[in-house]
Amino acid sequence: MGRKIVVVNGPNLNFLGKREPSIYGAETYEELVKLIKEQAADREIEVDCFQSNYEGAIIDRLQQAVIDNVDGVIINPGAFAHYSYAIYDCLLDMPMPKIEVHLNDVYNREPFRQVCVTSPACFTTIMRQGFQGYISAMDRLIELWEEE
Ligand code: DQA
Repeated sequence: MGRKIVVVNGPNLNFLGKREPSIYGAETYEELVKLIKEQAADREIEVDCFQSNYEGAIIDRLQQAVIDNVDGVIINPGAFAHYSYAIYDCLLDMPMPKIEVHLNDVYNREPFRQVCVTSPACFTTIMRQGFQGYISAMDRLIELWEEE
């Protein structure tokens, strides 16, 4: 049976490549989506990639993942990771494994980034791996499914 996952990216991640390239790199969001789709196909995983700059739209997409009974969620909430209790509440109530990803090591930047309120609602958080973090998250989901 094929597995289905959703990859959710939060605010400003659509500007990858343009946004602070010294921190986030030169590769674009479109390149990230291409990589995720290729790697998911290699693993026979069906993936939908969603990005929004709006908190409510992210929550709507996560709730839809519950309705659709997807097998796993990978989320980079962007700055919402640091203060969105609404996204935390939404994630908390989702039955499938969720993995949080950050491109950078958020613990070694400004103090406000050192708190990730959404992380405790996820199985684990992967950071500092750039785009590869999303692929590591996919492999972690596969391991979790195998443990079921
Ligand atoms: C980020 C880290 C956040 O602090 C920041 O607001 C982002 C990107 C990351 O992927 O490293 O938008 O989530």
